[in-house]
Amino acid sequence: MATVLGINAVFHDPAAALVVDGITVAAAEEERFSRRKHGKPPVAFSTWELPEQSMAWCLAEAGIEPTQLDAVAYSYDPDLAFQPDGDITAAEWEGLRTLYAKRAPLFLRSALPGLDPACVRWVGHHVAHAASATFGSGFDPCSVLVLDGRGERASHLAGRAVGGTLEILAAQELPHSLGLLYEELTAHLGFRRSSDEYKVMAMASYAEPSYLDAFRELVRADTAGGFVVGAVDFSDYAPALAPGAEFTARHAALAATVQRRLEEVLLDLARWLHERTGDRDLVMAGGVALNCVANSVLWREGPFERVWVQPAAGDSGTALGAALHVAHELGDAPAPMTTAALGRGWDDAALAAQLGTAEVAFERPGDVADAVAAALADNQVVAWFQGRSEFGPRALGHRSLLADPRRHANLEKLNDIKGREQFRPVAPMVLAERAADIFEGGPMPSPFMLFTHRVREGWAERIPAVVHVDGTARIQTVDRVQEPLMARCLERFEARTGVPVVVNTSLNTAGRPMVDDPRDALECFGSSPVDLLAIGPYVVRRAGVARGGAAAERAAA
Ligand SMILES: [Fe+2]
Repeated sequence: MATVLGINAVFHDPAAALVVDGITVAAAEEERFSRRKHGKPPVAFSTWELPEQSMAWCLAEAGIEPTQLDAVAYSYDPDLAFQPDGDITAAEWEGLRTLYAKRAPLFLRSALPGLDPACVRWVGHHVAHAASATFGSGFDPCSVLVLDGRGERASHLAGRAVGGTLEILAAQELPHSLGLLYEELTAHLGFRRSSDEYKVMAMASYAEPSYLDAFRELVRADTAGGFVVGAVDFSDYAPALAPGAEFTARHAALAATVQRRLEEVLLDLARWLHERTGDRDLVMAGGVALNCVANSVLWREGPFERVWVQPAAGDSGTALGAALHVAHELGDAPAPMTTAALGRGWDDAALAAQLGTAEVAFERPGDVADAVAAALADNQVVAWFQGRSEFGPRALGHRSLLADPRRHANLEKLNDIKGREQFRPVAPMVLAERAADIFEGGPMPSPFMLFTHRVREGWAERIPAVVHVDGTARIQTVDRVQEPLMARCLERFEARTGVPVVVNTSLNTAGRPMVDDPRDALECFGSSPVDLLAIGPYVVRRAGVARGGAAAERAAA
């Protein structure tokens, strides 16, 4: 029976998670509090910075004082890392990162007064990623693959967990890294590395992988469960793009090539692992596991029957994984993760008070889900703020922007609201029990948006806003028990339109972290052309948008 605070403070996406007696009671990313996307730059100099606000909130949420913590689990083990031997500037300041990680107990004591620094335990970065997936999935036994840019000295882990104990079967040392390869391509294409990789994935579907022969030489699995990434000069295939520049067919072909090669190597790694474990189930974490196209290839063509991906697969999830790992070490049996809604939430009275403070007119309809369904059917764009915020990068129906999928123009409208490139897709939410009627070729249910599915014949024309150029969609299935309010909204939308699908994208505007608190929601609503804000049981309508009148007004304009 232990109380464990997990934190991720190294690299990017700082976060905190609190596990009490094996139950995850709170988990949140620091960016949702600091409003600084990805929390901090992933440089050695920032390693001392702790996710102070998310840590403090996790403890407050559970009513726990720092003195009551049995352990703080820190998701990076400086003993596994480069040792500075007195020179912190060595290896491009890598030694400074190691030194800061070693000093973390002292920094933590300052941030959490009363904390006993001796309770801090370091957990290997990839062990933490692995634990987030093995314990999160609830699969036992299971095989686990972790792939990211880098941890202490490795970029990959392949292993097996039995009864919560991890056996590491392979680990690929740096500099070979599939995550860094993808990051470098992201930068080459004019996007932000460690942030915009999903834009490359979207771009990849616009072309054929024309350079595959060369990349099959450069990037390949080895016979020991790891892989080789040779020296790649992307300029040999397509010139570097400035931020915001238009991409050409060659850029798309390069993106398609790296994407395809990633899928092929992942399949090789999964087959190697399956040969050794014979397990039915594979679980995955690490930033590469946010590549939902590759995940789907693994699910369709790989040797495992089931594939489960940690929704916070990026580094924020190591806060949770480290806490689960240490909770298990202390004798608890961590409970599986059934929801990503582990962040902040407000009760109705607090929401009403916030709306009152902002002096906006609001009403309380008899059924907010039905009021939203009516607005969506009338082609309004809805900001949906319900329950606790999501842990991880995806909006899963708690901090979402919703729209009618039957109108292709809504893709452009949402991308405009969010200041995103027009080649980026938006994703559908679908009632779980109707999902197989509309989508195929991926795991069902798919509650965390980590796989892509093909849209069945006859449906692509009916929901054009959510169908990507390659005929796929990154779906979220909505379960009535898990997500009763969102399920009801989908049901009411279907009753009006015959379509049990709505467009879902994250509730934020360009370059900002996802909305987390009610004030963020009001700021987002007030600064973008969103027609309606559904916040708890209340709705706020944009001035001039009458009930049921948005489409007519736009048509007249
Ligand atoms: Fe990582």
